[in-house]
Amino acid sequence: MDILAIETSCDETSAAIIRNGTEILSNIVSSSKDFHEKYGGIFPELAARKQLEFILPVVQAALNQANINYQDTDAIAVTVGPGLIGSLLIGVEAARTIAYVTGKPIIPVNHVLAHMYANFINNENNHFSSDPDLIGRFEKPDQESSRLRSNNIVFPAISLVVSGGHTELYLMESSKKIKWLGGTVDDAAGECFDKTARLIGFGNRGGLAIQEAADKINSSSLTVGNKLPRPMIYDKSLNFSFSGLKTAVVREVNKLKENQRLDDTTIAQLSHEVQEAITDVLVTKTINAAKTYNAKSILISGGVAANLRLRKKLNHHLITNHLQLALAIPQVNLCTDNAASIASYAYFRGQPVNWREIIAAPDLSVEV
Ligand code: KG4
Ligand code: ZN
Repeated sequence: MDILAIETSCDETSAAIIRNGTEILSNIVSSSKDFHEKYGGIFPELAARKQLEFILPVVQAALNQANINYQDTDAIAVTVGPGLIGSLLIGVEAARTIAYVTGKPIIPVNHVLAHMYANFINNENNHFSSDPDLIGRFEKPDQESSRLRSNNIVFPAISLVVSGGHTELYLMESSKKIKWLGGTVDDAAGECFDKTARLIGFGNRGGLAIQEAADKINSSSLTVGNKLPRPMIYDKSLNFSFSGLKTAVVREVNKLKENQRLDDTTIAQLSHEVQEAITDVLVTKTINAAKTYNAKSILISGGVAANLRLRKKLNHHLITNHLQLALAIPQVNLCTDNAASIASYAYFRGQPVNWREIIAAPDLSVEV
């Protein structure tokens, strides 16, 4: 089954053709990120205008790369929410039109839930193989790892979805049965990365810029300010909170600015400490959830799952604590927004509806 998927929930315009929910025939992603630089964040009107410009060429490029035409596809999948209303409307209207004209079934997709299905996509770069530091856990083709590599995720699984707007934990009892366990009560981890990046002069480059700056430092030389808080790390619930950490970073940056000490070294130190604080919380909570629900595997996904420190820390924690849990992590370009995950979700969990019933839902709940 070949699904044509469309994703336009934020600043990306993406289209993909995915076979049987796992095989990428094409996955085109076009971003308007650079156009927002002077606005200090994503400017929704501009994102939608760029999506209107990109949508047809991006869909056509996905079809061309997969070497198929509209009639060869079996269904159309589209992100209906949560996200920016103007952006969602572009993808939804494009998908509705394609479904109407071709008579193909159309499947509405929840963007946040779809992130976790990046782990179901069959790609040899999934699950570590692109990163030598992360190979350790699966380097021998034992039974568990080969099952994971063929993307037969072992259930029950704990799934952490950590993106720009969401930090959520789910229990996956099967590829269809998902239960929400907890999420952030205020800011998302991605927001904390993004806000810090802006404060210290990295513009809209977000978590990736923080990761690159943090890489320049070795933790033993950390001298800047106080250790940042790890909010709710010892809290028994599976909820998160990152607004206190964000405020603590603002305070640190202001202090450094006042003392004229905001330079490359202190920026690297601060980036390192922010990354450590965020990843400590994410790793601790995810492992707590896995223990509580006797999970057999952990899945991470969403833009922040691209963070190399998070990937390594989680892997390291499982190994050093001898936890018999398989760990699945999508390759970096399947962590950030992409239509491939949308198609995979649609294949495993989607329900086709009449094209007339598809509507953009910016506030779509992620608590299933
Ligand atoms: O999933 P995503 O592409 O979009 C949303 O659905 O929000 O996630 C975007 C988030 C941003 O907060 C961005 O700063 C963060 O993912 N991100 C990273 C990294 N790459 C992207 N955060 C930390 N380290 C990275 N390498
Ligand atoms: Zn996303």
